[in-house]
Amino acid sequence: MTARAAATVVLAAFALGGCDDQIKHLDQRTPFFNTMSWQPSVEAFEERARAPVPGTMPIDGERTYDLLAADTMLVSPISGTEADLARGAELYSQFCTPCHGVTGAGDGSVVGQNRIPDIPLLNIRGELTRGYTDGYIWGMIANGRGLMPPYRRIPAMDRWYLVAYVRQLQAEAMAEEAAAAEAAAAEAAAAEAAAEAEAGEIPGAGGGL
Ligand code: HEC
Repeated sequence: MTARAAATVVLAAFALGGCDDQIKHLDQRTPFFNTMSWQPSVEAFEERARAPVPGTMPIDGERTYDLLAADTMLVSPISGTEADLARGAELYSQFCTPCHGVTGAGDGSVVGQNRIPDIPLLNIRGELTRGYTDGYIWGMIANGRGLMPPYRRIPAMDRWYLVAYVRQLQAEAMAEEAAAAEAAAAEAAAAEAAAEAEAGEIPGAGGGL
């Protein structure tokens, strides 16, 4: 075989070796063809991911607080501006309404038979929940409790917006209760006045309200 014939073979190898894979096989036989694609590195998924050293924290990690720690150690870092409440309302409608309902009364769409049981604790606008600290409610969202699942996937800051919004729902409930009490008092006064009129000077003049 002449040098010319040998050159033809090499050129043919090049022509066929357009594909990276073929070059890979070729360079294993002839180190002369070493390319970047063949190297003694570990390929993706070739090895199991290594477990981090115990105690390692992600650089964007956040400290976790259980319910008790959140209750006693944490204070809300936000003041509840309009923007805070708007964010809270958005998150609330995404994460909380199915169980706690739009107003927090505990009448969400998944509450009922064979689903989330209709228990009084689902009402988060009432006296009981009003009495909790902001930290407790924040911790409640993070950790869950009883039948409520944990929502740690909601970032820490977003949980504070939710707390502010829950406080707003409670304030609305209190305003409604005050208005209802006022209406009841007015109705009682009117009934009393009507009774007085009926028993009064002109018999039969009362009766109506
Ligand atoms: C899957 C249904 C479900 C969802 C969704 C849910 N909760 Fe709850 N939540 C519950 C249940 C059930 C309880 C009562 C827990 C118990 O049994 O101790 C509860 C209790 C609570 C309480 C304490 C009430 C009290 O007075 O003890 C708060 C506060 C609360 N939830 C806030 C939220 C917020 C805020 C969200 C949205 C991020 C949310 N929950 C989403 C089911 C849910």
